[in-house]
Amino acid sequence: MQSIDLRNQQNLEKSYTREDWQQGYESLKEEYDYWIDDIEGEIPKELEGTVFRNGPGLLDINGQRIHHPFDGDGMISQIIFSEGRAHFRNRFVQTEGYLAEKKAGRILYRGVFGTQKPGGWLANILDFKTKNIANTNVIYWGKKLLALWEAAEPYSLNPYTLETLGKEYFNHGLSSGEAFSAHPRVDPQGKLVNFAIEPGIKTKITIFELNQDAEVVSKQNHRIDGFCFIHDFVITENYCIFFQNPLSFNPIPFALGKVGAAQCIKPEKNLPTKIILIPRQHSPMVCSGVKVLETTAGFIFHHANGFEIDNKIIVDSICYDSLALTDIDSNQDYRQTNFDAIAPGKLWRFELDLLQEKVTAKLINDRACEFPAIHPDHVGRPYRYLYMSVAHNPRGNAPLQAILKIDLELGKQQIWSAAPRGFMGEPIFIPHPHGQQEDAGWIVGLVYNAEYHRSYIVILDANDLEKGTIAKLHLKHHIPHALHGSFTRDVLCEPIITRKSPKGTEATWL
Ligand SMILES: [Fe+2]
Repeated sequence: MQSIDLRNQQNLEKSYTREDWQQGYESLKEEYDYWIDDIEGEIPKELEGTVFRNGPGLLDINGQRIHHPFDGDGMISQIIFSEGRAHFRNRFVQTEGYLAEKKAGRILYRGVFGTQKPGGWLANILDFKTKNIANTNVIYWGKKLLALWEAAEPYSLNPYTLETLGKEYFNHGLSSGEAFSAHPRVDPQGKLVNFAIEPGIKTKITIFELNQDAEVVSKQNHRIDGFCFIHDFVITENYCIFFQNPLSFNPIPFALGKVGAAQCIKPEKNLPTKIILIPRQHSPMVCSGVKVLETTAGFIFHHANGFEIDNKIIVDSICYDSLALTDIDSNQDYRQTNFDAIAPGKLWRFELDLLQEKVTAKLINDRACEFPAIHPDHVGRPYRYLYMSVAHNPRGNAPLQAILKIDLELGKQQIWSAAPRGFMGEPIFIPHPHGQQEDAGWIVGLVYNAEYHRSYIVILDANDLEKGTIAKLHLKHHIPHALHGSFTRDVLCEPIITRKSPKGTEATWL
């Protein structure tokens, strides 16, 4: 564990090597199932439940490299914590595309982020088929385990074994081919809120609300002007909020088979970002309709949180100067990304004044960051503590190697870093079952360790990151740099039949 004094740190030497970071993008083709026995420290006894993570497991198809990790087939990791022990399992989501390419032993589909079928543009021209790669997030809701990708339906998995069950339509709540984004928000009132984007000259935004039985209890559609590339959103008690960053889309190079669809998106730096506030269907605000406010250009993948105070709404988000397309440039190998040449994402606070219809934006933190996480009871509500994956150094751009805790009330910060050879994934905040304070709990993260080309799970005290690791759980292999995940208090151990008796069967835990 390396503790860093943020006030005095002046050493801006590189905290990583690109070669180390690149190694974390090697495919993991094997599927594992084992109790973790290489543990430093102790897993807290009160930490009971299951962590799920999703991300691209394959960065090549039988040696044919995909163009960008966002095009990689989804692989789910499951870490079960029970009685001071931890069990690991990983499985690929058996999507139609994954199975077809595995059988063929070659790339059969174009990827949104630039993967092309072999054979040049002639082999790709006018091929608009999309491969649902189910690689972005995984959530356990209403006893369903859902692998999510923003442009298509979710895939349902067996939450115990990770076996793929098929596409999920929530008993006709979702139509065939209808998208269900990878960034649902769990309202502390007990609803899962999610959205879908259908981009076009007029973009369709659909908002779904699901009850705890995974039934769609509310669904609303809106058409808004202009092209949208919206990856995440914010919920508050009364609103769903979308940031429509200024972008244009010219599909011709994609149609001609030259590049992927996402490579046809260009930032429009002279236009404003539109902030679209759609009242939730249960809200009295529904009578006042959709509001649109404006702020300066930029690009946001992820929001940290949002909440209402009187006639204002606060939204905290990770903003880039503009959509950074450098790493998916049609001719560039993403593994050669020059971090120094790309502006990093930084934490900003937006204050939306609904009466004045004005937006004030303020930089909260200058450090390169991504993957915000908070206490789940504070989603859409006022909150004090924010955790994020960050660069090791306080300035400049670099891969994520550390976890930063920010006390938004007092402005204090704490950091835990896995540098120089560790690379940090998204933190997950797990509340202590008997905790009273907002930061009572654990931060659990997946770290790629280039020194051994293996990954480990780190457990930190969310109250005091600088106390050091509570435990490091070393896996027997690496996990490629992953995307998002979630936690459930359910201990999803697979029951196995151990003994049969004339009266029936008796199950025990694996
Ligand atoms: Fe995301």
